[in-house]
Parts: sequence; C-alpha cells; structure tokens
Amino acid sequence: MYRSQKLALRYFTAAALLFGVMVIAGLLSAIYYVVPGFLQDVFNFSTAKILHIDTLIIWLLMGFIGAVYWFLPRELETEVVGIRLAEALFWVFCAAVLVVAAVFIFVQYGGSSEFSLWFINQGRKYVEAPRWAAIGIVAVVLVFMYNVIATAVKARKMSGILWVLIIDLIPLSVLYLDAFPALTNMSHDLYWWWWLVHMWVEATWEVLIGCIMAWSLMELMGTSRRIVESWLYIEVLLVLGTGILGLGHHYFWIGTPRYWLSIGGFFSALEPLPLLGMVVHAVYDAGSHRMKTSNRPAFYWLLAEAFGNFIGAGVWGFMMTLPQINLFSHGTQWTVSHGHFAFWGAYACGVIAVFYLAVQKVRGAQSLDNRAWKWSFGLLNFGLVGMVGALLIAGIAQAFYERAMGGSTLQAFVIAQENPWFVSGMYARLGFGVVFAIGYFTLLYDLLTAGRCAAVGAATQPAAT
Ligand code: HEM
Ligand code: HEM
Ligand SMILES: [Fe+2]
Repeated sequence: MYRSQKLALRYFTAAALLFGVMVIAGLLSAIYYVVPGFLQDVFNFSTAKILHIDTLIIWLLMGFIGAVYWFLPRELETEVVGIRLAEALFWVFCAAVLVVAAVFIFVQYGGSSEFSLWFINQGRKYVEAPRWAAIGIVAVVLVFMYNVIATAVKARKMSGILWVLIIDLIPLSVLYLDAFPALTNMSHDLYWWWWLVHMWVEATWEVLIGCIMAWSLMELMGTSRRIVESWLYIEVLLVLGTGILGLGHHYFWIGTPRYWLSIGGFFSALEPLPLLGMVVHAVYDAGSHRMKTSNRPAFYWLLAEAFGNFIGAGVWGFMMTLPQINLFSHGTQWTVSHGHFAFWGAYACGVIAVFYLAVQKVRGAQSLDNRAWKWSFGLLNFGLVGMVGALLIAGIAQAFYERAMGGSTLQAFVIAQENPWFVSGMYARLGFGVVFAIGYFTLLYDLLTAGRCAAVGAATQPAAT
C-alpha cells in the first residue's frame, strides 16, 4: 500500500468519527424542538446546530480528501509528491477541529469584536470556524492541491478524470476564502455567502464527487475508463451549465434585483438534469455488469448515492426552487428536509461507498457480505428518509398555515409552531433520528469488523488443504 493510501485511511477514520459527533449533535438539536427548555443556559440550540452542520462539512471534506489520496497513487502508479507535508497537515487539521469543537462547546459565543471573529466564531453558517482555524483549513487544502498537481506533473500521465479534478479544485478552494470577510450589510453578506454554499454543493463538490465516483465505478465494476470519462464530461458540462446561474434561487428575497427571480427559477429548475444523468450512468454500469460485484456494500452505497443525489438534491430541490413556491417554503422545515436528503444522497452515501472500497483492499477480503452492512444500510436510509418525510410534512404545514394563511406575521409563525402537523413532524424526526443513530453505530461496527473473518479464512485455507 502507498503511504498516501495509509494517509487516506487516517482521513477515513477521522471522517467516520466526526460523522458520529454530527449524529449526536443532530439528535441534541432535534430535542430542543420537542423539549423547549432543554439544557437551558447550559448549551443552546444554535451551538448544537453549529456543531451539527460544521462537523457535517468537515467529515465530508475529510472523506473527499481521503478518497483522492486513496485513488491518486493508483491512478498514477506512483507515490504522492509531498506526502510528508500532507501527513503532518493531517494532524494539524485534526487538532484544529478538536480545538474549534471545544471552543464551540465550552465558550459558545463572545462579544461583537474582532477577537470573537478570530478566536470564537466567524458567524457564517456552515463555515463558522474562527479565523485562525479557517486559515489552517486553507493551508490543508493548499497542500492537498500541491500534492495532486505535483504528483500529476511528476508522473506525466494526465487522465481525463485528473484534469477535471485539478481544474475543479481551484474554484473549490478559492470559494472557501468567501468565509472570511465580515460585511455589515446583510444583503451584501448573504449575496457573497451564497457563492460559497451554493457553488460548493451544487457545482464544485458535485464535480469532485463525480470524479470520485468515476474512480469508484472503475474499481468496483471494472467499468472502462472511456465510458466513465465520457459520462463525467457530460455531467460536468450540465452541472456547471445549470448550477452556476442556479445560484439565483438564493437571491429571491435578500434584497437583490428582480431579474434574479427569472434567472434563478429557470436555471435551477434545470439542475436535476445532470443528476438524472448520474443515475442513468450508475444503472447502466450496474446493468452491463449484471449487478455482479465482490463488494456489495460499496455497490449498494454507490447506487444509493446516484439515486439519493437525484431525488434529494434534484427532486427535493426542484420542488421549492421556483419563486412562486419558494415564496411560501423559504426557510421552513421544507428547506431542512431538502438539506438533509441532498447532503445525504449526494455526498454522505458516496463517501461511505469509498470507505467500503478501502476496507476491502485493506483486509484483502474476497467479499464483505454479512448481516451488519445490510442492517446499517437499511437503518441509516430508513432513518434518513423518515426524517426527511417528517420534516417535509412540518415544512408544508409551516408554508400553509404561517405563510399562505397567516401572511407571515410573527403571530402566524407562533401559530404554525403549535400546529399539530408541525409538532408531530418534530417528534417523528427525533424518532427517525434515533433509528439513524443506531444505523450509524452498526455502520461503525461493520467498518471495523467486515472482512476480518473472510481474510483470516482465506489466509488459513491453503494451510488446511
Ligand atoms: C440523527 C440524525 C439527525 C438529526 C436528529 C438531525 C437534526 C437536525 C436538526 C434539529 C437541525 C436543525 C434544523 C433547524 O434549524 O430547524 C439539523 C440541521 C441540518 N442537518 Fe441534521 N440531523 C441528523 C442527521 C443529518 C445528516 C445525516 C445530515 C446530512 C448528511 C444532516 C444535515 C443537516 C443540514 C445540512 C442542516 C441545516 C439545514 C438548514 O438549516 O436548512 N443532518 N439537523
Ligand atoms: C448536492 C446538492 C445539494 C445540496 C447538498 C443542497 C443543500 C441545501 C441546503 C443545506 C440548503 C439550506 C441552506 C440554508 O439555508 O442553510 C439548500 C437550500 C436550497 N436548495 Fe439545495 N442542495 C442541493 C441541490 C439543489 C438543487 C439541485 C436544487 C434545485 C433544483 C436546490 C434548491 C434549493 C433551494 C431553492 C434552496 C433554498 C430554500 C429556501 O429558500 O429556504 N438545491 N440546499
Ligand atoms: Fe442552491
């Protein structure tokens, strides 16, 4: 195994553990909705939610970085250039995450001063990490980019996937700088902040996961490079063609000019197209290989990624992307329903698929088939879809009672919060969240144990015969 792949395993381990912190913080956040006085004056809802969504971003980023360190040396048949620096920065990354988490948990908030921006919280949703830590993340990403580009240059073997990856990493990292400025005008601030959030999840991350899935399909099913690369180019073209101006669906109500209503509505309505392309691609590959694979968990998680991306991001996003509907659904639990489904389908499932690819290689297992992966696959997806359904019902109740009937007044907001559909939705979300959490621990157990017996069996067999 290359050193870069060992580093990838470290990234996967950190990602899997942070996924757990995210689940616990999610459960905590959900409790406040059914027990309003929960942990009053000790730990507030917004801090729990910050912990939940920031760990989400970090574990997915760690999963992506790990996946690239995993596939890169195999693609180029050489060790990654600058691997020592990358190894050192992994520990810096982990230390920074721990310190930031501790600050979020124990300090929570500070005065409105530069000090708070530098050491407590930068205040931008999803990228709240204080400035010093954000600078650390920039350093990690820069070294990561250097590793990828320098290795490709040294190996003199550029593939189509690698070109797409390198070109994608540039805007992906530059956009993160958007987390830094502190603008006092709310409209300006949101205008730029959406560049980061939207252009990450609906443009640059989609391309990145497209590259990772292309490599995974080649490894899992031996799909030919020609086929995965052709699909990748089509998907990238469509993602960028629809996703960049699709940004307008966040500019409907924040004080930007009216033309964003048409631009955002039109282009974002087309965004499901590339995601549908990814489903067709995955099903085509699976069909042409008669669904045969030696790594069933990875295969199922890959299919879940393709379908989840299309349904969670494409269909759930499409539902509320036209301004005529978004006027009512904006910022309700409907949005939260889509946020969960999309992040899960588009990214989390893909990262879990790569975990399983790595587990098989590390343990040298012929097969990873067992009951634990099926349980974890079932519980996680059932829990997630249950949460998404509960949130959708709660969100529709809000759109209907608070916005359409109540005219968005404060009183209408309070009435909607007490509406039985909304309240039951919050209980159901917590219940399905617990199911999801059980699925997470089963996944963790399976990742630690799967293939162990098979490997031992394979190793002892020749001796026995
Ligand atoms: C045990 C499972 C989970 C529970 C109980 C849970 C609960 C919650 C809660 C209560 C919120 C705050 C919503 C609000 O502000 O009203 C939230 C936000 C969020 N969660 Fe989760 N979550 C869970 C798992 C996940 C997973 C697996 C993902 C993604 C893969 C995820 C992604 C998000 C995102 C993106 C937000 C922000 C949504 C927004 O503000 O629009 N969560 N979650
Ligand atoms: C992988 C892709 C995607 C992910 C991870 C994702 C995630 C999210 C999240 C977390 C939010 C809530 C943001 C916040 O306010 O904190 C959101 C909002 C939104 N998303 Fe997506 N999304 C994806 C793709 C799409 C697509 C393809 C569409 C349209 C077809 C879409 C339409 C929307 C709209 C209209 C909103 C704003 C909702 C509102 O006004 O409250 N999304 N998305
Ligand atoms: Fe968006």
